[in-house]
Parts: sequence; C-alpha cells; structure tokens
Amino acid sequence: MGNVKLYDKSFKPFIPYEKIEKAIDTVAAQLNRDFVGSGEIPVLLCVLNGSILFTAELMKRVTFPCEVISIKLTSYYGTTSSGKVREVMGMTGSVEGKTVIVVEDIVDTGTTIVDLDRILKEKGAREIRYCTMLLKPGAYNKDIKLDYVAMEIPDDFIVGFGLDYDELGRNSKDIYVLDKDITMKYFILFGPPGAGKGTQASAMVEKGNLCHISTGDLLRGEMAKGSELGLKAKALIENGELVPDEIVEGMIENKFDTVKGVDGFLLDGFPRTIAQAEALDRMLGKTKQAVTAVVSLMIPDETIKERILHRAAIEGRADDASEATIQNRIKTYHEKTEPLVDYYKKAGKYFEINGLGTIEEVRERIAALMERF
Ligand code: IMP
Ligand code: MG
Repeated sequence: MGNVKLYDKSFKPFIPYEKIEKAIDTVAAQLNRDFVGSGEIPVLLCVLNGSILFTAELMKRVTFPCEVISIKLTSYYGTTSSGKVREVMGMTGSVEGKTVIVVEDIVDTGTTIVDLDRILKEKGAREIRYCTMLLKPGAYNKDIKLDYVAMEIPDDFIVGFGLDYDELGRNSKDIYVLDKDITMKYFILFGPPGAGKGTQASAMVEKGNLCHISTGDLLRGEMAKGSELGLKAKALIENGELVPDEIVEGMIENKFDTVKGVDGFLLDGFPRTIAQAEALDRMLGKTKQAVTAVVSLMIPDETIKERILHRAAIEGRADDASEATIQNRIKTYHEKTEPLVDYYKKAGKYFEINGLGTIEEVRERIAALMERF
C-alpha cells in the first residue's frame, strides 16, 4: 500500500481493511450481546455521509431486529455571533419513543454528537446509545458516554472507509492518515538587481528541496526543447512581440505538474503583475494549494547602486555601466513590485529579509524564515 494523494495532501496507510473488519466484528458482538433477546427493536441512525460504510458493515453483523434510518447535519456560519450552527437535513424516519443507536464514523471533539443528542431528545427518542467506528480520545471533551467504540486513534486527520477530505477519499477500503511532511511549498523570491537573488535562490532550493523556476530560464529552455509552448513563444519573440501571460503561466503550470521528487517550488521572476499573481492563485487553487510565502530581499537603493557599479567594474557589463541606467532599473523595480507587495501583504504572505551583510548572514535569515512553514 502506497501513499494516496487527495488535492494538495498526501496520506499514508494507517488502518488496513482487515483490521477495520475485526474491530467492527467486536463492536457488533457487543451490540448483539446487549440487544439480542431484549425484545427491543432499536433504530440504527446512520449519520451521513461518513457512516455509510460503517453502518453497512454493522448491519451485516447485527442479528436482532432493527430499523435503519439516516440523518445529515449541515453546518453553516450564521450571520450573528453564535458561530457554528448545525441544521438537520432529512431524518428519514421517526425516533419517537424508540431506542436509537447513533452510528457515527468518527467522534473528534464531540460537537456533532452533542448536537445530535439535543435533536434526538427534541424528537422524542426514549433512549440514545452512541456507537462510533473511531474515537480520538485526545480531542473528545464532552460528557456524553460513548457506548460502543470500535477503534481509538491519535488526534490526526484521516480519510477512507467513509471518511473524507473535502468529499474525496470516502471510497477507500483502508484508512489513511495525513502525511504531514508532504505538503508542497511555493515560495516566491523578490529582490532588486544586485541584491544577491541568484545566490540566495540556490541556497533556498537546497534548504527546502525546491525546484527553482526562473521565468527567463524557463522560456529559453522551452524554446530550446521546441515544445508547443516554446515554439509559440519563439514565434512571438522573433516578431518582436511580448510573450503573453497565458504562455508563461502554461509553462509554469507544466512544471508544477511534471516535476517530481521535490518538496516545493521557488518562483523567481514570476509573478510580475497582479494579473499573474491572481493566475497563480487560481492555478494552485485548483488543487487546494496556495503560495506559501514571498521572500523579499531588501537593500537600500544606495547599496544597489554601489553593488551594480562594483560588478560592472569587474565584469565590464554594458547594462550595468551608467548611473542613469542603474537609477532607472531601480525605479522600475520599485514601481513594478509595489502592487505585488500590497497584494501579498494583504494575504499575510509577504516577508522582508534584510539583504545587507555577508552571503551567509542573509542565507541564515532566509533559512530561519523558511523553517516557519
Ligand atoms: P466532531 O463534531 O468534532 O466530533 O467531529 C465529527 C465530524 O468531523 C465527523 O463526523 C467527520 O465528518 C469530521 N471529522 C473529524 N475528524 C476527522 C478526520 O480525521 N477525517 C475526516 N473527517 C473527520
Ligand atoms: Mg461525518
């Protein structure tokens, strides 16, 4: 059994079907002991949707006469301060004057069964017993007695055998647990010319096991490969036109989909505009992922100038040479970056790193930030 991936998350094998079956055998035997020959005809109340499989397995095993009905609770956030409100959707039969055996997939904090208890009492249930396939004792903090518990598990998020992650994963015979270590990270690197972006990008890639996506390299790479997107870009560039956002975005999405064996990505040179930032959010949103953090290397304009002039003197780079050119590049950087800074600040994802000091010092600062995610 390998890991299963649902949206952005990876789940590892946790409870195999054979073990689930044995636990259900035990709980069904307890129910049979309590109800066979009691003369009672209890109602099994399946709490949809999670309990579908558990209820079905129980039904195959209990030998006393019983009714089976179901209920679905929906939660929504009211407009008042009352917080979470639960509402019943179609209880498929009457519980009045009857003994009800509530069949739950999992009891976590217990909020659901507290609501159920109130609803069932309102509807005139004579006696209520609680039967759950799974219990998280570390999370349960209510007083209601759980009469039949098939398995106890730690306070981790699980899927399978009826349980879902945003509606996926219910149709698995085995139960899987969230593999916390494998949530993809998406870092974006900002930095003015001369801030040491290239050097720090390499360090970040190494530290986080990331795939470095530099838009420039990506375009050149795709053109060299002669891929469909590359050919489109090449034709445009040769005609002196700009490469449109869709093409760049397509190339980036391709990378996200195809690069394996990394723990995330480092975007460099993308997004450059709000439209691109929104496109990136949409792209990641499709699989419930999101930008992790924007790392913005900060150095004063004066230092940028000094560094570029210094580099020009060593390398004799034409584009670095004149003061006016440098001033213009700095200005352009600020103008272009500002709206994006606001965009990511609003999302609480913008982090400034002091870019002054030695390469190691700056690397340490970035590493400390990365540790937080
Ligand atoms: P409670 O109200 O906190 O006891 O939570 C019960 C409900 O939360 C269950 O019926 C499930 O729908 C959901 N739930 C709790 N823990 C998990 C889990 O680990 N995986 C999937 N759903 C869960
Ligand atoms: Mg449920």
